Amino acid sequence: MFYIFPTPQTIAEHLSGVLLQKIQSNPKSVLGLATGSTMEPIYAAFINQAKSSGLNLSEITTFNLDEYIGLAPEHPQSYYHFMQTHFFRPAGICTSQVSLPSGMCNNIEEECLQYSQKIQNAGGLDIQLLGIGTNGHIGFNEPGTPFSSVTHVVELSENTRRDNGRFFEDKNQVPTKAITMGIKEIMSAKEVVLVATGSHKAEVMAHLYTTGIDEQMPASILKEHRQIKIFIDEAAASLLPMEAKLAI
Ligand code: F6R
Repeated sequence: MFYIFPTPQTIAEHLSGVLLQKIQSNPKSVLGLATGSTMEPIYAAFINQAKSSGLNLSEITTFNLDEYIGLAPEHPQSYYHFMQTHFFRPAGICTSQVSLPSGMCNNIEEECLQYSQKIQNAGGLDIQLLGIGTNGHIGFNEPGTPFSSVTHVVELSENTRRDNGRFFEDKNQVPTKAITMGIKEIMSAKEVVLVATGSHKAEVMAHLYTTGIDEQMPASILKEHRQIKIFIDEAAASLLPMEAKLAI
């Protein structure tokens, strides 16, 4: 379940190879995607590998985990903008192939229902990529979110708003709410890969390694997934108990 790599770049090269093979064997793959700093080197490596191998991306479908409520797609901090900049545009993936929840719709509850339905209509997710918050969130499923949740509106925790403040000019501009895919939908993906890199993720990874299944640690439910891989670099693994590092 846990795999330790020397650096974020070695994770990126390995994981993009996994994605490449998946799409080669099924060009209609449905990918669940995440945003955030952890994903940037992964998308960059994937785009390089896809281009050099002439991978056909024209039939894939993608679903992102989440979007801030109140940010228009063209806002520089929206997750739509992030995905266009770091993945879709450089990879040549059309907007018709991609879905993110809309943070700007009039009827948010209806948007959540439709997003869930759209994932199901696509046949579910073949693989879901995840980062992890320093509080253990996956997507924007904050501690205490029921494991049975589907796409819903979430009030972002102070911890998450503080962590994500680094992307905004003024930390007070970080939205207070978001739409996120629920834990049930994440768990329904055929395969899940969670990535954690950097020493600021060491504490949460040590907690994840030792904890039982607990709604206060949303990522802990992944231990029950049949096809879960957790890729961490040495910095994020630095607080794992010594016996864990030997066993991994
Ligand atoms: C982003 C998302 C979040 C991030 C997590 C880690 O779409 O769903 O769960 O994966 O907050 O963010 P970074 O990678 O910036 O540390």
